[in-house]
Amino acid sequence: MDIRKLVSQMTLEEKAGLCSGDDFWHTKAVERLGIPRTMVSDGPHGLRKQSQEADHLGINDSIKAVCFPAASATAASFDTDMIRQMGEALGDSCQHEELSVLLGPAVNIKRSPLCGRNFEYFSEDPYLAGKMSTAMIQGVQSRNVGTSIKHFACNNQEHRRMSSSSDADERTMREIYFPAFEMAVKEAQPWTVMCSYNRINGVYASENPWLLTDVLRKEWGFEGYVMSDWGAVSDRVAGVAAGLDLEMPASGGVNDRKIVEAVRAGKLDEKLVDLACERILNIVFRYVENAKPDTPWDQEKQHAQAAEIAADCMVLLKNEENLLPLAKEDAVALIGEFAEKPRFQGGGSSHINCFKTTGAVEAAKAAGLKVTYAQGYSVAGDEATEEMLAEAVAAAKAARVAVVFAGLPDSYESEGYDRTHMRIPDCQNRLIEAVAAANPDTVVVLHNGSPVEMPWIGRVKAVLEAYLGGQAVGEAAVRVLFGDVNPSGHLPESFPIRLEDNPSYLFYGGEGNVTEYREGVFVGYRYYDKKKMEVLFPFGHGLSYTTFAYSNLRVSADSIRDTDTLTVTVTVSNTGSRFGKTVAQLYVGDPESTPIRPVRELKGFKKVALESGESKDVSFTLDKRSFAYWNQQIHDWHVETGDFTIEIGSSSRDLPLKATVKVESTVELPRHYTADSIYLDLMADPKAREIITAFMKKTMEIFGHEEEGGTDAAKEAISADMAMAMMKYMPLRGMLSFGGGPESAKEMENLLEQLNKI
Ligand code: BGC
Repeated sequence: MDIRKLVSQMTLEEKAGLCSGDDFWHTKAVERLGIPRTMVSDGPHGLRKQSQEADHLGINDSIKAVCFPAASATAASFDTDMIRQMGEALGDSCQHEELSVLLGPAVNIKRSPLCGRNFEYFSEDPYLAGKMSTAMIQGVQSRNVGTSIKHFACNNQEHRRMSSSSDADERTMREIYFPAFEMAVKEAQPWTVMCSYNRINGVYASENPWLLTDVLRKEWGFEGYVMSDWGAVSDRVAGVAAGLDLEMPASGGVNDRKIVEAVRAGKLDEKLVDLACERILNIVFRYVENAKPDTPWDQEKQHAQAAEIAADCMVLLKNEENLLPLAKEDAVALIGEFAEKPRFQGGGSSHINCFKTTGAVEAAKAAGLKVTYAQGYSVAGDEATEEMLAEAVAAAKAARVAVVFAGLPDSYESEGYDRTHMRIPDCQNRLIEAVAAANPDTVVVLHNGSPVEMPWIGRVKAVLEAYLGGQAVGEAAVRVLFGDVNPSGHLPESFPIRLEDNPSYLFYGGEGNVTEYREGVFVGYRYYDKKKMEVLFPFGHGLSYTTFAYSNLRVSADSIRDTDTLTVTVTVSNTGSRFGKTVAQLYVGDPESTPIRPVRELKGFKKVALESGESKDVSFTLDKRSFAYWNQQIHDWHVETGDFTIEIGSSSRDLPLKATVKVESTVELPRHYTADSIYLDLMADPKAREIITAFMKKTMEIFGHEEEGGTDAAKEAISADMAMAMMKYMPLRGMLSFGGGPESAKEMENLLEQLNKI
């Protein structure tokens, strides 16, 4: 298909029309030219295809589909192969349902536990979010169906989500909020990108040329089309100029007319409209030419796959006295309404109309286990009546083990608004306390998309974090609780003890329409580690029913240049008595650096499966990016020459192996010295040091602290330390005031010329 030729045959009105949706879920057709409509659908972890009257809020039912675990859960698997397979299954379903693009994955960083949409997002860590989304995109797109990585960018709160400006500095965006998008674009080339509702430093994402063209296309090489989030367009003409190709859903023709008028008035280059059409049509035809509506969609099979995935996402947070796994013959009380009706997905645009769901009670009974059930609390009433509590306590007393299913109800955590606190409902906390008092062998299973406070943590023996695990989460929980599956999830985020500990706490939500990202790059563990703070559970944490050991750390070189790669290898062993999987994690740190940097940052991970007694070597490849920070002076990644630490282990706070590697920069930072440049900076630059040392010595003499000599009186008045500090922080122009350096303006000019020539 010659897309350019096709576009050249379109009228300006047709072209402007193609740049917005036909309805909520379709791109426009141009029948006279054989351009078909194509359909898009949410996303991200299942199909929300609305077949009849479309409505954004999902009041009209969508087709029956399969709800896989949400991103908060899949991220905890740290398993890129598994999420790729989930993507393949979603891609097949899209082919079956004739969907050209699945609206996801959603990769925004979990800046605060409060964000209402955290359940849909992967992590507080950009590397993990990048790896998981890349694999998912590769999976879906392997089936010739597009994805729409969203929401680009800095969309980290629901509060005022369509008007708020996320104000962050360049380094923070590049190091924390962009990399997941960047990695996915570079490695998986999503067919589309969805820009976010919010503004960035004052400019709407939907009309931000720096974001949509300079960074996304010119720097990262994005080839597909950019669509707006639903209703994210303010100035459509500015949007076309900035690189927003498709407005979704549409403006009833108003914005299309504005595009036409702007072109006619010479305010918008028609070539930009052509370009947007080409990009849209490239994807339309890529789908159409590869459409396979006869692809089968076996929902039962996908339900089974969803159960397997959900089990592998669960994180065993605590397991005192190896209370878990439970024995099949144990009498177990399953308590809490979530045991019967689990919370397995979030509210809003990702809400799936599941063809079936299984709760833990149903799954346990089907497996012939000896379980009883007590409701414990009512989700709808947000209460635990005396009767409910008494029934739960009696069930707990009668059983060997009590398992309380708790977490966040839909009303506590949803698209559209943020949480105001980090607590689960008080009634659930009361229930857990009462059950734990009645039976010392109490387990808590949690369903939530984001961290919660656990005031009862010291009084329960085990906690299993199930996140929002999809429609088969009940089955999965039973398999993990009773040991059919050995838990292997690790936390994709830190669980702070209290909300107030979170680094964005003081500024989250912002003032009016401005939310400043004042914590900068110190998001999640980057902050807790730097502050040496206690957390409830650290990033990367996850227990198993077996034990693992890490040994034999090897690096391919002790010293590399920043253009080289480094291979790091480690042996992981299963030292326990049953099969299990763990996540080997590699963190890099720059202990001495000019920029203020986190103590460690995740730069590699691998999920490893090991039989009891088995060992495997795991290798990681590190490159410049693994050691670099974003330098705001050169607007690029930069590695500062020096020693870097490489730490390996099973959580950000359990890193038994450590190596040091020297990395040498091949990039010299530009320098420009003025009379205001201080000695400290000049002396740190080896070339400037040569020129400046003689002057510095002379000035020191004036303070009475030359290397040899100097009067005692002078030394008493100004200590050596003080003299040194005064020198370090003295600007070159100080030498004019105190002597020792150039004595005239002319001499200063000469010196600066010499310094700036090097
Ligand atoms: C959400 C998107 C979603 C779109 C279509 C928006 O409100 O932010 O994530 O894909 O609606 O439902």
